[in-house]
Amino acid sequence: MAASSKEKVVAVIMVGGPTKGTRFRPLSFNTPKPLFPLAGQPMVHHPISACRRIPNLAEVFLIGFYEEREFALYVSSISTELKVPVRYLKEEKPHGSAGGLYYFRDLIMEDSPSHIFLLNCDVCCNFPLPDMLDAHIRYGGMGTLLISKVSAESANQFGELVADPVTNELLHYTEKPETFVSELINCGVYVFTPEIFSAIQDVSRHREDRATLHHFPSFEAFQLATRSLPRDFVRLDQDILSPLAGKKQLYTYETVDFWEQIKTPGMSLKCSALYLNQFRYTSPDLLALGDGTKNATIVGDVYIHPSAKVHPTAKLGPNVSISANVRIAAGARLINCIILDDVEIKDNAVVMYAIVGWKSSIGKWSRVQADGDYNSKLGVTILGEAVAVEDEVVVINSIILPHKTLNISVQDDIIL
Ligand code: GDD
Repeated sequence: MAASSKEKVVAVIMVGGPTKGTRFRPLSFNTPKPLFPLAGQPMVHHPISACRRIPNLAEVFLIGFYEEREFALYVSSISTELKVPVRYLKEEKPHGSAGGLYYFRDLIMEDSPSHIFLLNCDVCCNFPLPDMLDAHIRYGGMGTLLISKVSAESANQFGELVADPVTNELLHYTEKPETFVSELINCGVYVFTPEIFSAIQDVSRHREDRATLHHFPSFEAFQLATRSLPRDFVRLDQDILSPLAGKKQLYTYETVDFWEQIKTPGMSLKCSALYLNQFRYTSPDLLALGDGTKNATIVGDVYIHPSAKVHPTAKLGPNVSISANVRIAAGARLINCIILDDVEIKDNAVVMYAIVGWKSSIGKWSRVQADGDYNSKLGVTILGEAVAVEDEVVVINSIILPHKTLNISVQDDIIL
């Protein structure tokens, strides 16, 4: 059964708030993590662009507890580009990944959509949303989760699950278990029918019933239980997926394409490479071309913002993203890096496995580099906002907090 041509679909992207994403520091100090650029586009832009392929998409909602003004500019420009309304909805306090959805149920259901996509903002994949929707309609359940196979060693960072190999039903789900369950994990991308709201309401009601004083051995126990889990705080994974597994309501759709989670600056560099590579198929016009005569030499996938100025003798790539108003001087060499707005890179500097923060400068013959282990804390060198690396200084495997000037070389260090 295909989705009826009249049925509307909405998408909701959970963007969190300033108290989440702390592992993304120091880069989240001056930009909300969802707006941090990967392959030259804000992180949240990638799932939003994927929503464009959903048939009958009526509206996209971003739900978070950042200030509205932080998203206002982006939301208005993407609405125009997408030709679909994109709205930012601010929670006064965190309600959890399902509680946030429930809190705005009236707005989300305003146009009576038949299906609701729910996406975590901090995952990187090719978002196979139309295929998920088709599979979900075929399964006939309340929800379908995108799942992926990861290594047994890394699976415990995610929700681990067991699915029926024939029907794809979700049979068992445990969030970040201590004991290994499965290499199949929850990718943080879902499609639901509107019944999801009743399921969330049931959790909340059940919690209210349990939170009646006489059910607890002491007032302290009552206080502890009600304080740790407020009635309107509902987690999609623990409170909905775990209890509903094996009840013929939830199904899975496996992706064998790339999938990563973006919790750290190091992972943002890896995901930038994945999205640049995807541009070859989706937006080749965003990739730089260079021949070393009029333009710089380009190796592999590189994004250069139109306002950036790159000297023709510079060499960039692979996996390089250059943001607005960046200036790159003669003989500079950049490999695997994200260069944020208003940075200046002077003659013959080398930048490799690094993220260079807004308004920073790198002096002549300097090197800013790392060994490129995306999963280790110092595997990618990070310069915070307005860091000045003076001429002939070498910075290796280090994190430099904003507004520092480096006139001596550093290695394996965090400069506060
Ligand atoms: N608006 C809002 N309000 N967003 C929230 C809230 C909230 O109260 N809590 C979390 N989020 C957003 C986060 O910003 C993120 O995009 C998403 O919801 C999930 O965040 P977490 O609840 O912190 O979970 P996680 O990222 O550690 O793990 C989840 O995602 C993994 C896939 O990336 C789980 O669902 C895992 O099972 C899953 O593997």
